[in-house]
This record gives sequence, structure tokens and C-alpha cells, in this order.
Amino acid sequence: MNVLVVGGAGYIGSHCVRQLLAAGHRPVVLDNLVFGHRQAVAPEIPFYDGDLGDPAVVAPILKDEQIELVMHFAAFAYVGESVTEPRKYYENNFVATLRLLETMLDNGVSKFVFSSTCATYGEPDTLPMVETLPQAPINPYGQTKLDVENCLKAFAHAYGLSFAAFRYFNAAGAAEDGSIGEDHKPETHLIPLVIDAATGRRENIKIFGTDYDTPDGTCLRDYVHVDDLSRAHIAVFDKLNEPGAGYFYNLGTGRPNSVREIINAVEAVTGLKVPVVEADRRAGDPPALYADSSKAQAELGWEIKYTEVKDIIATAWKWHQAHPNGFDD
Ligand code: UFG
Repeated sequence: MNVLVVGGAGYIGSHCVRQLLAAGHRPVVLDNLVFGHRQAVAPEIPFYDGDLGDPAVVAPILKDEQIELVMHFAAFAYVGESVTEPRKYYENNFVATLRLLETMLDNGVSKFVFSSTCATYGEPDTLPMVETLPQAPINPYGQTKLDVENCLKAFAHAYGLSFAAFRYFNAAGAAEDGSIGEDHKPETHLIPLVIDAATGRRENIKIFGTDYDTPDGTCLRDYVHVDDLSRAHIAVFDKLNEPGAGYFYNLGTGRPNSVREIINAVEAVTGLKVPVVEADRRAGDPPALYADSSKAQAELGWEIKYTEVKDIIATAWKWHQAHPNGFDD
């Protein structure tokens, strides 16, 4: 299929582009390079630098490239910033996405795959988390993702849009060959920060809270490999042949790891010591988030290749060693 990957130069999008190629599809990338990296996309892949919310940019691409399906990874994803600057998040994550969907429908493209998040659930009452849990986001980032999910449901019903929305847990790791990986500026995610502390690029890693009601007092999260995430996006294609069909899937391994376990695993993988500072809790961090992804496994035949967090970290470490300054190297 001819697939437009919006945000295809970003962390998850760029990995998905490579999985699309491997599966025999034809990816085309649209990215405004605000957070994406041009070097994350191979030169032979059609690349457009522009905004997803601009129909004058998107409509010609849909037509000229004969796009059949759109994948959308181009959201702002700093939870803290979404609280202090919600306008940016509503504008980019919701309003621009609405424009993208309108442009698709106006041009006869009706298949859509959307990056959603476990942040749409807020603080869950039960674990592991299933798709039918109540959704009550606790920050504008999660709210804008939920708003898009609701928009998709209405558009499927009214206009025959077919869609899948994947609620990611903690995306982590890098391409197995170490050629592309995670490069956020600023970086806020745990695994790259711990690797930086191991190599001395950062003085230490601060553990945000050691008094949670968890086995070792630090937060539990579900780290899932970015290539495993990507494969689920492709596995859903067949289900989108039915007009008006809509699907929601949690994507995580279902195996929680604490912050301390991540630090220990980074030490084991790198053979380096990680300097640790115990700090206060970070506002808005739920104690534990991990997925029940049996729905994706049963309905999509989704197989989790990276079930051990050490193996996920090993891919991040390989990328980091080859590109200590990320794509700036
Ligand atoms: N953490 C630390 N020290 C750090 C950074 C993180 O102790 O320097 C802890 C956090 O408190 C949390 C865990 O490591 O317990 C993971 O933190 P991340 O920031 O890596 O990830 P989050 O679970 O906060 O965020 C993830 C995704 C976001 C998404 C969010 C939804 O990375 O993009 O889930 O809740 F928005």
C-alpha cells in the first residue's frame, strides 16, 4: 500500500517507516522537522517538509502519491509542557489532526492509523490495563489524544472513516542495526537519560520518588520496543478494509519494570556504573502503568519480540554508542 507517514522523521514514525518497507509497502513521509530528524528517513523515501494541518500541503501529497492510508505520529508529547502551555497541545495534537482528517476525507482517503497513549486512561483503578477501562486523562496531553479518539469514532460513524488507535505504553529501544533511535531534544525519557548517566554525559540520574506503594518504592512502567509497536500498526491494515470500522488497542509487553530495575538493567547491559540521586516525586506520575495487550495479540496476531527489558535497552545502547549526540553526529 501507499502509506503517508505523518511524523515519519520522529522517533516512532521513523521506525515504522522501516517496518513498512520491510513488509513490502511504500511509505511517503510528511514531517515539519520541528522535532523530527531528516537523517532518520532514508534518502530514497519520498519526503515532504510541511505541516499536517495545512490542506494546501497535504491534499497534493495524497493525490500525487496515490495515498491509500495515513499514519499519524506527529504529536507534541511533553506531559509537563502540556500543563503549562496547553494551547500548543490543543493546536497541534487536536486542531491540526482534525484538519488532516478533513483533508483525507475531502480527497477520498479513508483509512487512518493513530498514535494514542495510555495517558488517555489517567490513573487506572485496575492493573494490568485493558482497553475498556474508563478514560480520564490527568493532563492536556492525554486529553488531546482522547479528544482525537472521540473524533475518530464520530467520523467513522458519520463518514465511513476506518481507523485503528494504538494506546502506547512506554516506547523504548532502537532499530536493531543501531542506525536510527531515540533523539528527543530535550530528552525526558528514563532509558536514554540513564544511559547518559552511565556514560558520564549527565552527572547522575534522579529517581523521581522512592516512596511509592510498589515493591521497591519506585514507579512501575511497561517498556515496549519501538519495532514491536511499529509491527502492530501494519498488522491492522487488513481490518481497515471495512468502511466505518474502528479499533482501539493497548500496546505494551504487560511486564512492569521499576525505575530501579531499569537502572540495574542499564548497568548490566553497558557494564558501567550509574550514579543515582534519590529525588522527590514528579508531579502527575501514577505509581504503576502496565498493559494487558491480549486484545492486540488475539485480533492482530501481534507478537512481542522484545519481552525482556534488557534486550530493549541493548538496542538503545547500540544506537547510543554509534550516535552519542543522536542525529547530530
Ligand atoms: N523517571 C525518573 N527520572 C527521570 C525520568 C523519569 O525517575 O529522570 C521516572 C518517571 O518518574 C517514571 C519513569 O521514570 O516513573 C518513566 O518516565 P518517562 O518520562 O520515561 O515516561 P512516562 O511514563 O512519564 O511517560 C510515558 C511516555 C510519554 C507519555 C506518558 C503517558 O514516555 O510520552 O508515558 O503517561 F506521554
